[in-house]
Amino acid sequence: MSNTPTLQKTIMTDSTRLKPLTTNAGTASEPSETAIAANHINIFYGAFKAIADVSMAVEARKITAIIGPSGCGKSTMLRAFNRMNDFVPTARVEGEILLHGQNLYAPGVDPVEVRRRVGMVFQKPNPFPKSIYDNIAWAARLNGYRGDMDKLVEESLRAAALWDEVKDKLKQSGLSLSGGQQQRLCIARTIAIRPEIILMDEPCSALDPIATIKIEELMQELKQRYTIIIVTHNMQQAARVSDRTAMMMLTEDGKRSGTLIEFDDTNVIFTRPKDKRTEDYVSGRFG
Ligand SMILES: Nc1ncnc2c1ncn2[C@@H]1O[C@H](COP(=O)(O)OP(=O)(O)O)[C@@H](O)[C@H]1O
Ligand SMILES: [Mg+2]
Repeated sequence: MSNTPTLQKTIMTDSTRLKPLTTNAGTASEPSETAIAANHINIFYGAFKAIADVSMAVEARKITAIIGPSGCGKSTMLRAFNRMNDFVPTARVEGEILLHGQNLYAPGVDPVEVRRRVGMVFQKPNPFPKSIYDNIAWAARLNGYRGDMDKLVEESLRAAALWDEVKDKLKQSGLSLSGGQQQRLCIARTIAIRPEIILMDEPCSALDPIATIKIEELMQELKQRYTIIIVTHNMQQAARVSDRTAMMMLTEDGKRSGTLIEFDDTNVIFTRPKDKRTEDYVSGRFG
């Protein structure tokens, strides 16, 4: 065992109930704070190793983009951050995901609690077939919210930059909205649960350019309070919105597992990457 007995004990003791986050709004002079970190993550689908030894520390209140060619494991890796791979019967995750130092895969950790603290927005907007109001109220109530619901609905819709467009039709179905509005409704629903981290898997790939820009602007607002990890196949989008970029690629050992080849500030990845493969990919010479 590489863990010291003390560390092991701490993890076991704390594992049943995740500690609440204490947010100290960071000042500019403070060193960056890690919100969530992958520690030697391997992910298997049956015998196939989809992710090989990925470690990455994600900074709090920053936008981290995960880029790389199709099939290199971006979605699989993203889903590790909130135990969404638990829903795939053949999937097996090795290694640790540390949320403020606590391993989300430790025995006794409640995956439902994990997904409350690490929310997710999907590629295709997926509002519930309910009213705009209930899309938020229902999710919040299910998660134990007992406060002023009208207030929470308005706050969440405002935070998702959707309030002005829907405030006069809160009883209408969420499905009656445009694609871009539906995606912002899904973001509002995620925010209403008050997560610490928001995962987004290609959240704009089903949207038109105007709706895409709106989501990108919204992300800049959200990062004041939230840590965001976004998977995108659109390199311009990664360059526009993110502070940090993780470049993934398949291993060349014949196993074709996804691995992290470079992780740095976005401007470094796009202007002076250290790895030739990153340079080829971001300059469009790949494949
Ligand atoms: N549910 C699954 N069952 C089996 N294999 C899967 C599953 N999901 C993804 N994979 C495989 O894992 C690899 C990585 O897929 P994915 O994470 O979706 O990549 P990306 O998001 O980068 O396109 C691919 O080879 C894919 O076929
Ligand atoms: Mg994907």
